[in-house]
Amino acid sequence: MNNLEYWRGSITIGSLKFPRFIGGPLDGITDSPFRKLVRDFSPTELLYTEMRHVAWVANDKGGVKALDFEQIERPINYQVAANSIDFIEKACDKILAAGVDMLDLNVGCPARNVIGSGSGSALMADPERLERILKTFRARLPIPFTVKIRAGFKTCNALDIAQLVQDCGADALAIHPRLQTQHFEGRPDYALVAQVKKAVSIPVIVSGGVVNFKTAALVYDQTGVDGFLIGRGIWAQPWKLHEMAEHSQGRVYVVPRDTVLLYALKHLEAMLTYYGPKGLYAFRKHLPFYIRGVQDASHLRKKLVVAESSDEVRQLLLSALGSVPDEASGLSRA
Ligand SMILES: Cc1cc2nc3c(=O)[nH]c(=O)nc-3n(C[C@H](O)[C@H](O)[C@H](O)COP(=O)(O)O)c2cc1C
Repeated sequence: MNNLEYWRGSITIGSLKFPRFIGGPLDGITDSPFRKLVRDFSPTELLYTEMRHVAWVANDKGGVKALDFEQIERPINYQVAANSIDFIEKACDKILAAGVDMLDLNVGCPARNVIGSGSGSALMADPERLERILKTFRARLPIPFTVKIRAGFKTCNALDIAQLVQDCGADALAIHPRLQTQHFEGRPDYALVAQVKKAVSIPVIVSGGVVNFKTAALVYDQTGVDGFLIGRGIWAQPWKLHEMAEHSQGRVYVVPRDTVLLYALKHLEAMLTYYGPKGLYAFRKHLPFYIRGVQDASHLRKKLVVAESSDEVRQLLLSALGSVPDEASGLSRA
């Protein structure tokens, strides 16, 4: 297979096929409003939801709606965390009833509150418990089941865990090749990903450091993986998966500046609709990305971060845009 064919090809997870570029989970960032924006550009790409503990899903706890997605966001891979077999069956039944395409178990989260309860990357240090959890999911799920791991918890054991994940019947594996102790810093260990890819027969997805087609191509050369989970690279760039697909086919694709600002506005409206007035504050973490490269960006950023009303933010963005285009309230597919 030559390279163009590889990039045009797809990743097969269970019985389902998807483009190789996949929207990754970023808690609080790639949320339901954002995933809906991605759909304007990428109607068929797989998108992971953010991690939700099975106990939250089973008991409707957590302060936010645990099943926080809409059917328009599909195909989605609904991600959960678990620290025991408790709640798994009830959570799976609820998730299945809500309608998802597949389910992912998070075995990679490094956050202290998550590992403190024995879930996320802590499971990499407890293979016996992990095995019980994997088998419980597999037995309950009639849809594809995937697992996202790290290089290891305190020490690297990704090869053993990848084998366990495959033996327990998972349909694909995503690996973020850093230890829990590294969190999100340091060079991802792509040599380890290449070893994992050689060791297992299920599809392998790499997560970490892929921010555009150029980095995807470099990582592919080093690893031979089947798919790419785009995390921070998609932040405030809902067109990113589409851009990467276009570049992979040698086509030129540059997002026009006015599209970027229009999407900032569209994102703001989506956040306000979804979260109510609190959406304005949640939107602030996206703002700096949208206005990168705008004339006098630092001056604009200063005004935007202190703006106390959504009207003020709207007006500032519109003034940066220069005019009020007709499409501002309802962009068509770009
Ligand atoms: C703010 C933030 C939130 C994240 N939330 C999740 C999450 O909910 N589930 C998960 O599996 N990984 C999560 N991750 C990890 C990313 O999915 C990804 O594995 C990691 O950032 C490396 O990929 P990247 O370099 O493409 O960002 C998060 C990372 C960040 C920075």
